[in-house]
Amino acid sequence: MKKIAVFTSGGDAPGMNACIRAIVRGAAYHGVEVFGIVRGYNGMIKGDIIPLNSQSVSNIIQRGGTILKSARSKEFMTAEGRKKAYDKLQELGIEGLVAIGGNGTFTGAEIFYNEFKIPTVGAPGTIDNDLYGTDYTIGFDTAVNTALDAVDKIRDTADSHDRVFFIEVMGRDSGYIAIQCAIAGGAESVMIPENLTSVDEISAILQKGFDKKKSSSIVIVAEGDEEGNAQIVAKKIKDKMGENLDIRVTTLGHIQRGGIPTASDRILASRLGLGALEGLLRGEKNVMAGVVNNQLIYTPFHDTITKKKPVSEDLIRMVEILST
Ligand code: F6P
Repeated sequence: MKKIAVFTSGGDAPGMNACIRAIVRGAAYHGVEVFGIVRGYNGMIKGDIIPLNSQSVSNIIQRGGTILKSARSKEFMTAEGRKKAYDKLQELGIEGLVAIGGNGTFTGAEIFYNEFKIPTVGAPGTIDNDLYGTDYTIGFDTAVNTALDAVDKIRDTADSHDRVFFIEVMGRDSGYIAIQCAIAGGAESVMIPENLTSVDEISAILQKGFDKKKSSSIVIVAEGDEEGNAQIVAKKIKDKMGENLDIRVTTLGHIQRGGIPTASDRILASRLGLGALEGLLRGEKNVMAGVVNNQLIYTPFHDTITKKKPVSEDLIRMVEILST
């Protein structure tokens, strides 16, 4: 394989740039020509593809976002869109791809491989940490630390005013950010999609706190929780526990997607980027590079998309015990 391309797709995640850097520098080391596809699958369809070399990725390891930009492509979900993308890759003689992204990215990559047989290896880049086949995804550690910084600040004001705060963190289908923030931030409770915690249970936990003279409380809510987002949950709690409860809601939102990647994310991204590239050059295809128990492994896209990575029961139990 002499010509490959790299792209980032789906929600951006801090550390994606470190991953691009590792792929580009790794390709230079192995004497392989490398291109960058701008704006994910949309750029592939439009032929927005640029040559990259070692200098193109200087001074980016510490930067959040992605220099290649990202998108969620509707057109790539159509057969016509994918054919256009294939034609553009053929024009440039691109023989293999490294895709940095999450579930949606790898769903597209699997369909594309089945149709056109262009070997693709993925690197898991999403703040959600919801991919089977890797213990951690690129961007997760930074997102947790960003959210935690906000939780610590909110605790100061919650304590000053004797308030209950519901803090919503990202995670449409996943409670990883929420559970880690809850443990590290010392929250009274957490609500995540993987585990049903009812409004009744939350009010019982809050009541127990009041009985013990706790003056303020923090509940972390993953945006995808079954009871609803933080606004909805807070309303339900107010309806149940009474108007006098002084409740505030903070939604952290996209702040969690930006910022300087932590050392852990930069190292993970470098390892996964180089691992994905070297896997591709060795003949791996239709798989995602991941780190499980500190070992680099490759998992079929199909499994990363269809299998669920459960949040450890231990962590859920820990929030319950440590908040009492
Ligand atoms: O998948 C990453 C993520 O940040 C989710 O946690 C969140 O639900 C979603 O992306 C938001 O997507 P968008 O930026 O397209 O609104």
